[in-house]
Amino acid sequence: MYQNAFFTLALFLFLSLAVSAQHGWEEVAPGVWKIVVGTPDDFDLLSAAAVPPRLEGLRKLGAAPFPLDSAQIVGEVTENQTQLRLPLVREEQIFGFGLNFKTVHQRGRILRLHVDHYGNSDNGRTHAPVPFYVSSEGYGVFVNSARYIDVYAGTGSRQDSPDPPEARDRNTDNAWTARPYSDAVEMRIPVGGVEVYLFAGPTPLDAVRRYNLYTGGGPLPPRWGLGFTQRVHRLFSDEQVRQEVQEFEDRGFPLDFVGLEPGWLSKSYPNTFVWDSGRFPDPEGFMTDLKKKGIRINLWVNPFVSPESPIYNDILPYTGTHTVWAGVVPDFTIPAAQQVFWGIFEREHLAKGVSGYKIDEVDGYDEWLWPDVARFPSGISAEQIRQTYGLLVQKQSADLYRKKNERTYGLVRASNGGGTSFPYVIYNDYYNHRDFITALINSGYAGVLWTPEARASKSAEEWLRRMQTVVFSPMAMINAWASGTKPWSFPEVEAEVRQMAVLRMQMMPYWYTEFAKYHHEGTPPFRGMSLEEGFAVGSGPLTIADSEADLETNPYAEAVRKEVKDQYMAGEYLLVAPMFEGETTRQVVLPAGRWYDFYSGEFVGEGEVITVTPGLDKIPVFVKDGALIPLTDARLHAPGNGEKYNLEVRHYGEKPGEYLLYDDDGETFDYERGAYSWRRLSVTRQKNGSWKGEVSNPEKGKPNNLSTVSWRFMTARQAL
Ligand code: GAL
Repeated sequence: MYQNAFFTLALFLFLSLAVSAQHGWEEVAPGVWKIVVGTPDDFDLLSAAAVPPRLEGLRKLGAAPFPLDSAQIVGEVTENQTQLRLPLVREEQIFGFGLNFKTVHQRGRILRLHVDHYGNSDNGRTHAPVPFYVSSEGYGVFVNSARYIDVYAGTGSRQDSPDPPEARDRNTDNAWTARPYSDAVEMRIPVGGVEVYLFAGPTPLDAVRRYNLYTGGGPLPPRWGLGFTQRVHRLFSDEQVRQEVQEFEDRGFPLDFVGLEPGWLSKSYPNTFVWDSGRFPDPEGFMTDLKKKGIRINLWVNPFVSPESPIYNDILPYTGTHTVWAGVVPDFTIPAAQQVFWGIFEREHLAKGVSGYKIDEVDGYDEWLWPDVARFPSGISAEQIRQTYGLLVQKQSADLYRKKNERTYGLVRASNGGGTSFPYVIYNDYYNHRDFITALINSGYAGVLWTPEARASKSAEEWLRRMQTVVFSPMAMINAWASGTKPWSFPEVEAEVRQMAVLRMQMMPYWYTEFAKYHHEGTPPFRGMSLEEGFAVGSGPLTIADSEADLETNPYAEAVRKEVKDQYMAGEYLLVAPMFEGETTRQVVLPAGRWYDFYSGEFVGEGEVITVTPGLDKIPVFVKDGALIPLTDARLHAPGNGEKYNLEVRHYGEKPGEYLLYDDDGETFDYERGAYSWRRLSVTRQKNGSWKGEVSNPEKGKPNNLSTVSWRFMTARQAL
């Protein structure tokens, strides 16, 4: 009582409450700490996602010391807003704050984290504005709030800063800058409290792993999800889909699942959620036939319910005040709304054989989504519903498949912090190829997956370049909903596109294992170079370019940091450096250690910037010394449940190598009950100097899908 009175008095007098002592931090898992500032909302990102942490993975990562000086972390609640401050040191770089498209380094940026369709500017409005950042100093920070969060990522300078900027005379001092040094990340959250989480390293990748594991670990897609997918023209009928599937087969193009766009629905925008009986008179028969050919069906939906939908009357009491395209907007936080909405999905889609969804338009734009003045029957604010809608639809749709012990893998246009484990890949309508690669990099700092989908192209060259990056991404997809483009639409490059698609399928054992690591260990399968050990973050001749201040038009111009935002890591060993239309040559920054050409096995360089001229048919890919890349035969469909496949293990470089190959049934959740194995592949040098490859024996009672195993030593023997 006395304490409470004191508290109120303190608040009253200073209008703020500072929580800064380390003892306020609770260690909630090894290397993960939480603090509660003020009185947070009951409904936040983690409660919307509702996924337990992967404690097993966190335990394996082990204990680590508290990564910051807790006295320098400040949380203050003033009236109805929370302000956070976290320290930065000189040269420290920060990455993250969601799915950005143009920037990788976030220090010095000002953002308002807000779920939206990306609008061509990295201002915080994006499909997954995840309030997580990772520091080059080896720690991560997550703010668990479903509010719009203002971020000043090292821009403000305070009087009480322990490391304040110097006042300089612009008249005489060339070192004067329009952006004086800032020693903190500051945030403003428009509510009277938040939970903050801190993730230890020691490396930045460890901090990312801890965040990913704490939010459930990455999804383990079914094997077929990592194969090829074609989204057909929006008004295709079942007959046209069958024909297209046949053409894939006839032309020798891999295909695992087909996406139907809005025309499968009797009415769309708003949606009835029932099949169009003209275009799809017998959905069940259609899907059964396709399944026999190894092809699955994914359905486009958005969640806005048409007055003509059979669920309209039942869902109405659980919808918001505002409509979207004249459809009602379910409040997915209410169990009764979930039952009605997903009930029709179970009856009309899953029971008939649908394998997954593309859940569209849960992000924005503001122009047609519900406004922030909307009200929802749960009483949760429109802002919070906006920030979590993508999480809720991912969670609830994925649960339908979990109930059937069947894995799914689909697409979604919005996600947020806490969504790591959902089997969904983000996409959008923006179409800048370079920026798509930057988004792929940023997805790895945000616990989300992103596909640089190919839709259409102005030239054969652009088509091939786009298809090359599609193949080195979490979902190898053509989205022909509007264009009707096929992989073979540009005959000049048909052979090269086919070769890439086939390579994707050959690499299935590698992709599948790397996703298993995302799930079990938290390592993002696609990630930025800053997470790679031996990569010089923010240093070297490539990283800083001076832009001349033009006093006339821009008196506050600054020297800018040249970022490495067009190359990335794919899995443990591969560095991918995409080519873009019009380019014949490019530079690649190789981290420390020796690197080899993926295709030829030749040594290319170590810890240096190289220039490559790969030709049109190749996307430059480089491999770490000692890498083992497990491949399988060229094939048109991913191996099914229990199907045996041949393994070809490629070894690169001069170091011996070891790789744990993941295996399970590829389709169900039985792996969660222990039905999986890690087979040890190893390559060692023998006395006579030749390489020897070995694979460990299958474990008794565990899945074993390997048929023959062969070895290829890619790098010609060097003088010993
Ligand atoms: C867009 C979506 C496209 C396509 C289209 C169908 O919003 O991003 O990929 O699905 O809707 O209407």
